[in-house]
Amino acid sequence: MVASASVFGSDPLIPIAPDEIDQVGGFTREGSPVFNLGKGVPGEEPPQELLQIQMTALGYSPPGGKPELREVIAGYVNDRYRPNKKITADNVLVTPGNQPGLALAAEILKSATVFVEAPYYSQFRWPLRLGEHHLYTIESRDHDQPLLGASVIGNILATKGSPVLWTSNPRNPDGAVRYGEELAATYASVAGAGGVFVSDEAYSAFTMGVPHGQPTSLLTVLNDLNKARALILHTASKNFFAPGARIGWILGPSSFISRLIDLSESHTTPPSLYSQVGLLNFLNNAAAVQAHELALKQIYNDKRQLFLDKLATIDGVKIHGHPLGAFFVAVALATDIPSQDAYHFSRRLAYERGVSTIPLNYVSEFYERHIRLSFGAKWAEIDVALEKLSQFIRDLKESVG
Ligand SMILES: Cc1ncc(COP(=O)(O)O)c(C=O)c1O
Repeated sequence: MVASASVFGSDPLIPIAPDEIDQVGGFTREGSPVFNLGKGVPGEEPPQELLQIQMTALGYSPPGGKPELREVIAGYVNDRYRPNKKITADNVLVTPGNQPGLALAAEILKSATVFVEAPYYSQFRWPLRLGEHHLYTIESRDHDQPLLGASVIGNILATKGSPVLWTSNPRNPDGAVRYGEELAATYASVAGAGGVFVSDEAYSAFTMGVPHGQPTSLLTVLNDLNKARALILHTASKNFFAPGARIGWILGPSSFISRLIDLSESHTTPPSLYSQVGLLNFLNNAAAVQAHELALKQIYNDKRQLFLDKLATIDGVKIHGHPLGAFFVAVALATDIPSQDAYHFSRRLAYERGVSTIPLNYVSEFYERHIRLSFGAKWAEIDVALEKLSQFIRDLKESVG
């Protein structure tokens, strides 16, 4: 872990226009087909149990989500992360996915000093701009060790009152994963500085490169969740391959959760009952959940290996840090590739070759020539996209002789 960090203040998030990132990252302006190395979407079908729903009534959801669903989510979480330190339904708020969950977290932490760990998920900008926070980006300046060490984080957070560490783990966009003792130490540093740890764990099932048996979720390292200074967000969008279901959950101390439930009534509303019943059916079917988890592991172990192997054959891109989780790899573009910055590279790649990627120069000048590549799509599509990326780089280099 690195010993020093850079801190940027006064609303440093996103110097380039967000709709421009979306255009090159997911869709071209004309809506023409793209080979997706951009958008963070799993290419596989969701488990059918999520979709087989018999509804007898379609009323409003109870505040915080259906009580049976909150119960079942608590059981699912205990089985995976907290066999000895169980949480209850009071620690669970059902959300319409992590993005609205982040907005609720931002709202409840209003006027706190929020330290966003870079590189960060581009959409963190919306909830944090709504919340009237004092915003800082903190970032390692060591490309080989892009995760900030626990003591560095503790020292930075201690400089402000009401600090919050805001990050994703596994991390979007570079696949870094904070795990084991380092994760526990980071939580201790945040709590020691009187802070709150907001851990967006949208990719919690995708920890393919982490040494076996090492905890990767903050849920595993916390003792009594009701006394913890933490909020943890999970979603069906990635883990269950179902972004359109718009369902997820926030876990935290019951005192936080009851305030968040009040907020969710006025701010985001709970997800539709269709999605809640679908998730309930799925989570109640232990065999289906187990089959899904096994399949996910296998598919993403394989895709990750193929992806890293193929990337190693592309001249001109260098992997950033250690992508152990999520389904992202950030790469630096070699200086002999003629391009003003990552954004202009990604834009041409999308418009001229139909391949989407996410330029990371929105993060800071340290990521000026970095792009995020997703291996969420089906392998056949990824394979073609990487071929096109490789050819594009060769053509660019040749164009300057
Ligand atoms: C880190 C992170 N958090 C949240 C989201 C959004 O999740 P949801 O679809 O549940 O709103 C994403 C989607 O890409 C993400 O990468």
